[in-house]
Amino acid sequence: MLLHTIKEVREQVKEWKKEGLTVGLVPTMGALHNGHLSLIKKAVEKCDKVVVSVFVNPIQFCPGEDLDKYPRTLEADTKLCNDAGVSIVFAPSPSEMYGQSEMRTNDFLTYVIPPFFYVNKLCGKSRVGHFDGVCTVVNKLFNIVQPDFAFFGQKDAQQLIIIKKMVKDLNIPVDIVPCPIVREESGLALSSRNKYLSEEDKKEALVLSKILNNIKDCYKKGITDVEALKETAFQFLTDKHELEYLELLDCEDLEEKKIADNNTRVFIACKVGGVRLIDNILLGE
Ligand code: PAF
Repeated sequence: MLLHTIKEVREQVKEWKKEGLTVGLVPTMGALHNGHLSLIKKAVEKCDKVVVSVFVNPIQFCPGEDLDKYPRTLEADTKLCNDAGVSIVFAPSPSEMYGQSEMRTNDFLTYVIPPFFYVNKLCGKSRVGHFDGVCTVVNKLFNIVQPDFAFFGQKDAQQLIIIKKMVKDLNIPVDIVPCPIVREESGLALSSRNKYLSEEDKKEALVLSKILNNIKDCYKKGITDVEALKETAFQFLTDKHELEYLELLDCEDLEEKKIADNNTRVFIACKVGGVRLIDNILLGE
């Protein structure tokens, strides 16, 4: 069932709750791929009813980012969800979600602001305000759908950590279910932004997973000094790659590590063919 209004979703969920059914939410920005599908499958397995939200959230895009050209494929997304056993695809318009105040320059919207320590690094450093937009919309979706479980991919590991922190700090009654990264056979992590890559760029994009796997191999061989591990990346980088960050941080609280251990997550962001890609790996997995 494709619904566009908050009222309709609320009414439907209310019925389900009356019947004692559990509700799962998979928040997405659409352009669904197998990565999303793995979240949806997990949600359908775990919950009686599943809502997938499809909303390209304007307030999490920074000026100059790809808001206008972000792929929008609602018809295909709805079909995929229906085939996977989803009960509601919730696809609101920006004005349904934010009224007339969706643009941050208006300064008319109440935001959920995650802690500076968690956002002042990795993607938050170059995407200023991005996680304010993510937390605000996710919080709104939680209030609209009131899910028992919500499913997020490990691919956006910083996002997942920040959402877990928000849920804990604000006592939001939802269980966050993390889901593993899905990769192409080549190793490329699935992302809606892969659609922007040419065939040539796709090969170059393998640099991210190569760097991560190599760091993990080195760690397993006994190298734990973070600077030494980071240096192993340079052999893979050419002028086709624009490295934005490579960081080794604690997988729970994003604390910086000097010596790597099993709880260290390696985070990378790199531009390939003008497309900004991210990936990560846990050393202890
Ligand atoms: O990960 C995403 O696709 C988005 O950041 C999310 C969680 C759907 C919020 O808009």
